[in-house]
Amino acid sequence: MKIPINSPVIGKEEINEVRSVLLEKSLTTAANSGGKRTQEFERLLSSYTKSRYAIAVNSGTAALQAALYTLDIKSGDEVLLPSFTFVATANSVVSVGAKPVFVDVTPDNYTMDPDDLERKITKKSKAIMPVHLYGNFSYMSEISEIADKHNIDVIEDAAQSLGTTYKNKQSGTFSRLGCFSMYAAKVVTSGEGGAIVTNDRDLFEKLRKIRNHGMLHGYDTRILGLNLRLPEISAAIAKVQMKKLPKFLKKREKNAKTLTDLLCDLNFILPKERAGVKVNWYLYTISTKNRDRLSKQLNEKGIGATAYYSIPVHKTPFYKNNTKLPMTDWAASAVLSLPVHPLVTENDLHYISKTIHQLIKK
Ligand SMILES: Cc1ncc(COP(=O)(O)O)c(C=O)c1O
Repeated sequence: MKIPINSPVIGKEEINEVRSVLLEKSLTTAANSGGKRTQEFERLLSSYTKSRYAIAVNSGTAALQAALYTLDIKSGDEVLLPSFTFVATANSVVSVGAKPVFVDVTPDNYTMDPDDLERKITKKSKAIMPVHLYGNFSYMSEISEIADKHNIDVIEDAAQSLGTTYKNKQSGTFSRLGCFSMYAAKVVTSGEGGAIVTNDRDLFEKLRKIRNHGMLHGYDTRILGLNLRLPEISAAIAKVQMKKLPKFLKKREKNAKTLTDLLCDLNFILPKERAGVKVNWYLYTISTKNRDRLSKQLNEKGIGATAYYSIPVHKTPFYKNNTKLPMTDWAASAVLSLPVHPLVTENDLHYISKTIHQLIKK
């Protein structure tokens, strides 16, 4: 693809840091505190998000799983989450034995609909997992109010939203536990990787044990844990990427603004930031009729337009259930993400716009 939907931005700083790890032969450690680069990355993430603690793990899925373990979510419990998300959100719930309950999304930013959330709460509801999809910010004030009223925990799936803020406060810090992903396509990457942020010391200590087979000092398993440790090579990349994040976000924002200027005359629903929100532009997602045809034609022209997610989780073969989620179904049929990552140039954006205009005219 000439202009891929996303691409890691790797420079000599990442390469040098990885080389140092290899030369030091410090590939990983089974210590409770994690390795040197892991700790450096955690310090940078906690400082960036203004969270008291950050714990690095080896994927965003592992971050969600660890968060659920930490809150003792288990068989017999229900966890409310959108179906309009990457399947990892639901899979993490099933992996701890709990039942995912699917909530519809709002049409304006494709995140959890607080009204539908409240309708779906039962005595078994133990946690709510809003997803800041595409970097958009969920309706956290409303969601937190509902959670408090029913005494339910909230875990933010912030896998796609590192750097998104609401009133200058980072996404992932509006609940007890915020989970990030550093998968290759994300705004900060380590290839594979993830992290959890929290302000709660007890949860932090528990998370460190869960990351490491429930051990504290060595072979002394105290609670159920797994090997969720982030390798030092990955932490080295993530650490350098964290320092570059503000620069990455600026370029994404500039690209998104340009695309909005170029596409505003078309009959698309363009992405918008609601008052107080600054999104990280992880994905620039429009909605349109005839989405599948346009997507295919753009791909043929070398533009990595992608529909995230054309099959919502509740319609996949494994999860198949009859819950009625009309906005989710609409979004799944209409959304199309266009490239705005930091390697997309001004010329690329003009090419994308020109191609779309030509295709629409036909
Ligand atoms: C919304 C969402 N949740 C969870 C994940 C899982 O992250 P990972 O792929 O790092 O396991 C992703 C990542 O792709 C995601 O987009």
